[in-house]
Amino acid sequence: MTRNTRRQFLKQSVFAAAASPMITTLARPQSPNEKLLCAVIGCKGRGGSHISAFAGRKDTEIAYLVDIDEKVGKQVCDGVEKRTGKRPKFVKDMRVVFDDKNIDFIATATPNHWHALCGVWAMQAGKDAYIEKPISYDIAEGAALVAAAKKYKRICQTGTQCRSNPALINAMKFIEEGGIGEVNFARGLCYKRRKSIGALGDYKIPAECDFNLWSGPAPYTEPKLTRPQFHYDWHWQRLYGNGDSGNQGPHQTDIARWGLGINRHPNSVIAYGGRLGYQAERKDPGYIDAGDTANTEIAIYDYGDKCMVFETRGLEVDNAADAEINKVFGGKGNKIGVIFYGTKGTLVQREYTECTAYDLDGKKIKDFKGGGDHFVNFLDAVKSRKAETLNSDAFQGHLSAALAHLANISYYIGENNKVSPAEAKAILEKVKSRDDNVATLERTIAHFKDSGVDLDKYPMSMGPLLKFDPVKEVFTNSPEANEMVSRDYRKPFVCPAPDKV
Ligand SMILES: NC(=O)c1ccc[n+]([C@@H]2O[C@H](COP(=O)([O-])OP(=O)(O)OC[C@H]3O[C@@H](n4cnc5c(N)ncnc54)[C@H](O)[C@@H]3O)[C@@H](O)[C@H]2O)c1
Repeated sequence: MTRNTRRQFLKQSVFAAAASPMITTLARPQSPNEKLLCAVIGCKGRGGSHISAFAGRKDTEIAYLVDIDEKVGKQVCDGVEKRTGKRPKFVKDMRVVFDDKNIDFIATATPNHWHALCGVWAMQAGKDAYIEKPISYDIAEGAALVAAAKKYKRICQTGTQCRSNPALINAMKFIEEGGIGEVNFARGLCYKRRKSIGALGDYKIPAECDFNLWSGPAPYTEPKLTRPQFHYDWHWQRLYGNGDSGNQGPHQTDIARWGLGINRHPNSVIAYGGRLGYQAERKDPGYIDAGDTANTEIAIYDYGDKCMVFETRGLEVDNAADAEINKVFGGKGNKIGVIFYGTKGTLVQREYTECTAYDLDGKKIKDFKGGGDHFVNFLDAVKSRKAETLNSDAFQGHLSAALAHLANISYYIGENNKVSPAEAKAILEKVKSRDDNVATLERTIAHFKDSGVDLDKYPMSMGPLLKFDPVKEVFTNSPEANEMVSRDYRKPFVCPAPDKV
């Protein structure tokens, strides 16, 4: 981030922009029976769900499908034509959509590095926006989206769809009403097996993909692709993605924050971990995986009277040291969810549509079940113009995405600070937390060992304890960390600072 833009960013607190009521108008005047015209931008994986949500409804029509991959574009246009009898226009450049006055809203599932710029451009053009999680690539981008939604009076939903599920809505209400007593601590889990994405190398960019448009706000590494698979695996390269802390993470940290009743950034963060284990897995001590985000990252967030810990694991997900976690969370295999620890019991979120509350003896108190429709919640707000009815507006999306960014900043700064288990223990013993930091560390070490990681040869990294001003959105003890609040952009793909949207 340049000095100037950082100063501009510091001047504007996103919290001033957060909770103001909005009276907004639709992008264009409409008769009651007219369909809302939309564009889905980024159509492959998650984009397919966006297309399914808006194709074939009586009140929406997909006018454009936008993708930088021609093959994907043809496929999805064929699919919509088959389903609705009408073929959307296919374009590679999202700016065509923003220039079309007839488009009411966009839904975007591009890679993370495009989310904020796409959303800001859309709202500047008067469109409402459904933006996938994490809604930002970094902290400043999230603040820019919050500011844009306010300035242009747009409806902006974040794609954390759990927020619209009755299971979660009722479970969080149960916590709020004291169902498990006082709750000041939540542990988020992303124990999700992730294999190596292949060796770091020089791979061919598929001919059907426009790499300039794909790269957009990220540095243009033309003509180099360093990972074997073009799509999806960008999640694990820090120029574009945010690792699993920023991929699966924003669902669970969002739920944890919700249940803890927290609507602000934390006061501090410390993260440790590494991208380890693939050398053993490949039986090649010199193997370098093409990913450079942590596959194992533990983050401790302090909110003063409350605390959240988020554990990301990409290696083996079952080991003996996890007996305590297994006892509460249950089951074998991937464990993706949140455990709330109350004075009278625990509440566990295991599925997107399922939660269970237990008493202190582990006896079930209550089940919460049921899925909802986050897209419909968005459409209702688009029609009513009542942004306050959104279950997950830009502000909520920003707070939850920022948790991943905060952890990653600590991890990236400490990446070369390699520590032995004993050194890690000495550091974590001094970190304020409602967790037993040492017990969590010991489980993490056991997890590495079970996965064949030789910690003497490939040690963990320990990030610094970063103090954060949750209102000004700046680090107060690390100029280096403040350099990572935003990124440098490649013209013309520049996401403006929050007070320049
Ligand atoms: N809410 C959820 O449960 C959920 C689930 C999966 C993914 N996601 C999110 O969805 C996003 C996409 O993830 P994915 O797994 O589908 O990724 P993906 O790489 O499989 O698909 C991304 C698509 O976007 C296209 N694209 C890239 N740049 C573009 C641009 N400038 N304009 C138009 N299209 C562009 C790509 O060609 C590709 O087709 C991610 O941010 C991810 O976090 C959310």
